[in-house]
Order: sequence, then structure tokens, then C-alpha cells
Amino acid sequence: MSVETQPNFQSFLDGRITVKPGDITVENADAVVNAANPTLFGGGGVDGAIHRVGGAEILAACKKLRDTAFPGGLPTGEAVITTAGNLPAKFVIHTVGPVYGEEGGREAELLAKAYIESLQLAAQHGLRTIAFPSISTGTYQYPKDEAARISSRAIVDFLIEKGAIKNVSLVFFSRSDAEIFLRHQVF
Ligand code: APR
Repeated sequence: MSVETQPNFQSFLDGRITVKPGDITVENADAVVNAANPTLFGGGGVDGAIHRVGGAEILAACKKLRDTAFPGGLPTGEAVITTAGNLPAKFVIHTVGPVYGEEGGREAELLAKAYIESLQLAAQHGLRTIAFPSISTGTYQYPKDEAARISSRAIVDFLIEKGAIKNVSLVFFSRSDAEIFLRHQVF
């Protein structure tokens, strides 16, 4: 059944995982995840949208992180949390995904790490719902099928092990991206 005839979203793991097309800036989850630039100073894609809609408060919080914990920028696979500014979400978790083909063969490990570190940070802050974009599959050129296998494996393993997080939404900017993900996920 193609995504066109599927309901607007699909769920897995007794409803703890939701896959849907949409714009992450309108998600009112406890935290939305930003596919950030290592500088934390914004960029295009999801990063551009989150900073544009979320406003200057997010950039100010990111600048503070650069002045304190991350003077050299956020390393690939790491995650930090800031205010969500004007976004409906309460927090933004910024994580840097791997650039496909430029991580010395560690791409899969680093992509999984970006999801796991974001989930761990959300759990540490007592958050119950979190929404992810498709990290690294845009500017960073990660093949969508490989990314689907890696991200779905990392998310489901985390949720099975830890019960703290009630729902993880995977928000795809296009229905075709959601369809590719649904064809290759390993939930
Ligand atoms: N909501 C949900 N998904 C979105 C949105 C949005 N508003 N905007 C873009 N996307 C999707 C893209 O279509 C892609 O599938 O998010 C996925 C990730 O794409 P990018 O945002 O390009 O992120 P990434 O590939 O991780 O590259 C990050 O790009 O914009 C720069 O500063 C950013 O250097 C960083 C790099």
C-alpha cells in the first residue's frame, strides 16, 4: 500500500513510535530535534527552519553553549538541549549527524549515536515525547534507505531498554521520504 493511500501516519511498538510526513517546527512534542551544524549557529534545512521559526532565543542559547561547554563546536553524534523559543515544543535538542562518506567509515555508528544521545538527553530531562527529522539525509547526503535501517534500529533498541520516553515521532518533510523510510525501517 503506497503512502498516498496510507493514513497520515503509521505507528509501531504499541504506539510509542509514530512515522508521519510533516514540518517539525509545528510539532508540539516536549522536544524537537534539530539536524544541526557543528557551529550551532544555524544553517539551512531543518536547522534553518528551527532557528527561523524558533527565533533569536535559540541562537542566544546556542551561543552560550559555544562560549562554555563547546568552544570548538558540537562534535558529530553529540547532543545539547536549549529553549525552543517561539516553537510549540518546549525544548530543542541539537545534534550533529555524520556527513556521508566523510567520517572514515564511522557513518553508521555516528548516525546511531546522534539518535541515541538525543534520546538519552530527553530522558535525562524527564521529557516524555520527542520528534526527530531525518538526520543527515539532506545536506549531509546520507542514503535514505541506509539511514532508515540505522535510525529505526537505534530508536527501537533504546525504547525497549528504557521505558521513560512515551512517544518518538519521526517527521518527514515529504511523503515520498516517509514512504522510503517505511520500506526500510526495522521496527
Ligand atoms: N521539517 C522536517 N524535516 C525537514 C524540514 C522541516 N521543516 N526541513 C528539512 N527537512 C528534512 C530534509 O528534507 C531532510 O530529509 O530534514 C532532513 C535533513 O536534512 P537537512 O536539514 O539538510 O539536515 P542534514 O542532512 O542533517 O544536514 C545538516 O545542513 O542545513 C545544514 O546547518 C545544517 O550543516 C547542517 C546540515
